[in-house]
Order: sequence, then C-alpha cells, then structure tokens
Amino acid sequence: MSLLITNIGELFTNGARHLTRDAAVVLDGERIAWVGAATEAPDADERIDAGGAAVLPGFVDSHAHLMFAGDRAPEFAARMAGEPYTGGGIRTTVGATRSASDQELRDNASRLVREALRQGTTTIEIKSGYGLNVTDEARSLRIASEFTSETTFLGAHVVPAEYQGRADEYVGLICGPMLAAAAPYAKWVDVFVERGAFDEDQARNILECGKAMGLGLRLHGNQLGPGPGVQLAVEMDAASVDHCTHLSDADVDALASVTVACMCHEGWSRTVATLLPGAEFSTRSPYPDARRLLDAGVSVALATDCNPGSSYTSSMAFCIALAVREMRMTPAEAVRAATAGGAQSLRRDDIGVIQVGARADLLILDAPSHLHLAYRPGVPLIRTVISGGRVAFPTAINRMHDGVPL
Ligand code: NIG
Ligand code: FE
Repeated sequence: MSLLITNIGELFTNGARHLTRDAAVVLDGERIAWVGAATEAPDADERIDAGGAAVLPGFVDSHAHLMFAGDRAPEFAARMAGEPYTGGGIRTTVGATRSASDQELRDNASRLVREALRQGTTTIEIKSGYGLNVTDEARSLRIASEFTSETTFLGAHVVPAEYQGRADEYVGLICGPMLAAAAPYAKWVDVFVERGAFDEDQARNILECGKAMGLGLRLHGNQLGPGPGVQLAVEMDAASVDHCTHLSDADVDALASVTVACMCHEGWSRTVATLLPGAEFSTRSPYPDARRLLDAGVSVALATDCNPGSSYTSSMAFCIALAVREMRMTPAEAVRAATAGGAQSLRRDDIGVIQVGARADLLILDAPSHLHLAYRPGVPLIRTVISGGRVAFPTAINRMHDGVPL
C-alpha cells in the first residue's frame, strides 16, 4: 500500500535539503518512495493532508533501560530534598526484577514501548542490566528482543550484592556463562564505567569478550565524574559513549579525532557522544555541554536513558527541550540529535532521515515547525506517528472521544 502525505509546512529531512513549505512524501510499504514539492507528488493509494504542519523523522531513542520491575519514586523524592544520586539504587531494582515473572517484565516493557511510540519514538534500544545473573540477564534480553532488534547486554551495570568485594570474579561470570546465555538475544554490549561500577581494565576485558561474541560496543562513561570511559570507547571503536557529562579537553579531542567524512552528512564521529539530559534533570546534576562537543565536530545523539532510577522519562521531546534550554543546542541540532544522531549511534543509515529508501518512520506535529518541540515544552505535539509505513498513533481508539471520532 502507498501513502501520500501532502501539504507539509516544514519537512525536516536530515538529508541534503530541508523543505520549508508545500512539501510531500510518498511511502510505499515500509519505505519512503518519493520526497519533493507537493505540486509534483505522484498519486498514492491513500493520502494524509498535514494541513501545513511540520513532518520529521521518527525519534530514535538509542539508550533506554526498560527491562525492570518496580519503581523508585521515594528515591527521586529524597533526591529532590537534597540527597545525591550515586547509582546505589540500581540494586533495589535488581531485587524487584529478579522477583518478577516473565509476564510482569514483558508487560512493563510493553507499557513503556507504547508510551514512547505515542510520543514519537519509532526506534528504541533496550538494555538489560537489572538481572545481573545468568538467568535474569538472558531472560531480560529474550523479552527485550520481542520489542526491538536494538538489544544491549548490560550485565556490567554494577557488581551485584552477592559478588561484593569479588568484582573480578563477577567479570569472569560476565565474560563466561552470562555472555554465552545473553549474546544470542543481544546486538550490543555495554559497560557502566564509573567509580563504584567498573574500572577501565574490567571494562576493556568485558568489551573484548563481547566483541569476540560478535556484539557491537557501547559504554556508559563520564556520568558522575571524570574518568576513562570516553577514551576507552574511542580506543575500542565503540559506536557510542553515553552520558559524557564530565569531559576533559582530551576527551573532546579523542571524540573529534574519530570524526570521518560521510556522504549523507557533514561528517560523523565513529564514536557518537550520546547525551542523556533526563538523567541530569532527575538527579539535579549539571548538564553536559553539547555546544563544546558540536563545536569540536563531534556527532551528538540525544536519548532518554529511560530507567526507574536516574531518568524515568520516555519523552524524546522533553530531552530536546532540555538540550535546547540547558545544553546550548539549537532546536535544529537537538531534533537532529534525537533522530539522525541516535541512528548514527546505532550505526544505522536506514532510520533518522527522510529520504528515498529509508524506513517510513515519520512524525506529523501539531505545530508548523520543529522549533515548537523546544518552544512549547511539555505539550503533546505529536499528532501522528507513522512506523514502517503504517499509522501507529493515533490508534482507532485514541481517535475517539466519548464515542465521537476526533
Ligand atoms: O544510565 N548509569 C547507570 N545506569 C543508569 C541508572 C540506573 C539506575 O539508577 O537504576 C543510567 O543513568
Ligand atoms: Fe543508562
């Protein structure tokens, strides 16, 4: 089936040119088949009149921890009353996750994936990391793979309580039986490199083990303080290093040194800096300086870090607004980071762009331009979500109000 979206007021493509009025897109099955001026658009089986609204690529949320049970609302309240965030609450969620049934974990992830989808997220990465034993890490990834192909093994989130004081033994477990059980369901391996989690040598070891099993590399680095995460990520050609809140000049230089020319964009860093402003918001911490990275030529992605501890938001629009208000990004840079940036961090060129041949993942806003995503924070501006060529939101039920179609 083909679908024509016409009367687009602004087409934010992330490709060679943004069309600023009277644009149209034709979708054919799961792919984008045509992009251009509305007056020249070919016919299609069905048509949506965007009414002058902005259309952009679906959001790519490249960092989310959705495999968990329970929540930590009291911990959030304590932080807002002045308690610092240390990551120590991760173990609380590990307890709840281990006790949950498969169906409870599936229902919670499904709720969050749907919540994200109706806010415009058409691709989501999902990490394990609240199981921290062979069985619970493997089942977290098995269930995560029901929702996305972008699954990440994060057995190296923290050292679980039963391995307290025996971190190297735990690293041995990760590199042996845990990775063997998890790898069939995972595309990526990730390590939390931080004081209190894993050090540089342990992280290198785990990433090398993951790579040997065919997994791509990602890293949590430089979140709570300066550290070796960013430089290790660059050294190992990780696709992404995430958080990047505390960076030295040498860290920025390292990321800039792996920026390579690319046909579709000005250039992209082999290791993308993924910024997660929801975490700084929810832990009341200083925000990373996106401007410094962008000015150095580093590719930046924005993602939610959705998790029950440090960032319980699934809203990419909220992250865009924070990035503009607090991290010195322009609205266009923030939208790009939330779409093409996320795609680059997943080493994908079929998503995050509106161009012929890309996946037909698009958003129609209730607004005339992308600026409104930051200009109107907290407002539900996602009118229509198209995922793989099909309207995913609103669903028939959402189109009804008191039994009356809207
Ligand atoms: O990305 N940094 C480590 N992991 C998560 C937090 C997890 C939690 O607090 O439960 C993060 O912020
Ligand atoms: Fe995270």
